[in-house]
Amino acid sequence: MAGIVKATPLTFVVHALAVVSAVMVLIWCIHYRGGLAWEATDKSLIFNIHPVLMLIGFIILGGEAIISYKSLPLKKDVKKIIHLVLHAIALILGIIGVWAAFKFHNESGILNLYSLHSWLGIGTISLYGIQWIYGFVVFFYPGGNTSIRSESLPWHVLFGIFVYALAIATAAIGFLEKLTFLQNGGLDKFGSEAFLVNFTAIATILFGAFVLLTVYAQKDQEEEDYAGSYSAI
Ligand code: HEM
Repeated sequence: MAGIVKATPLTFVVHALAVVSAVMVLIWCIHYRGGLAWEATDKSLIFNIHPVLMLIGFIILGGEAIISYKSLPLKKDVKKIIHLVLHAIALILGIIGVWAAFKFHNESGILNLYSLHSWLGIGTISLYGIQWIYGFVVFFYPGGNTSIRSESLPWHVLFGIFVYALAIATAAIGFLEKLTFLQNGGLDKFGSEAFLVNFTAIATILFGAFVLLTVYAQKDQEEEDYAGSYSAI
């Protein structure tokens, strides 16, 4: 699979899909759903923080962190720091986003953790945290010896891909669940908002697909030149 396509055109598509899906989720939550607030008497404004942070913070920044090795013409050591910092920001924003969903439930008298979406969500964010800590300790500080690093790397990539795919699936189920709640509450099934939410979910899935495709893309010559000779991962 490795090397079937060049990385640069793919990363362009990834960034474009990131912008499209981010704009769509903002239009949905701000224009259609009344905006975002951490404290409000209208508790749905607290909920609105959840999809915005989960998509823009967790999924988009997390995706950019994954492809940073392919998308940035920088030295490997610099890219490693960008990779781990972007993932840390994604994780923190994801945790705040999940916190917003709990806050909305608690202040609205709704039970927690009753849905498949919420179970997958807790699983995703926990595995993401474990993956980040393991990666930090083995590849950055204090750093494992060469054999631990080289044995860990394929597992780090495989586990990272699995967790990222799980995040995309969880988000898609989240969009479906929220739209179903709204439609059961009377929202027009074929109205503009319903289309917007479904297309946001499609853009999110496409974004995730292109992130994963980029992972397997062929290195560009330019990137090879910048990376120079092989350095420890
Ligand atoms: C990977 C990204 C996401 C994760 C990790 C995640 C995680 C969670 C978690 C853990 C809860 C449970 C909160 C509680 O029980 O109090 C929750 C609730 C909820 N989320 Fe997400 N979420 C994600 C993305 C989304 C997106 C994009 C939407 C789209 C609107 C969404 C819609 C919902 C809804 C409607 C609830 C309340 C109902 C329920 O608990 O299932 N989520 N989410």
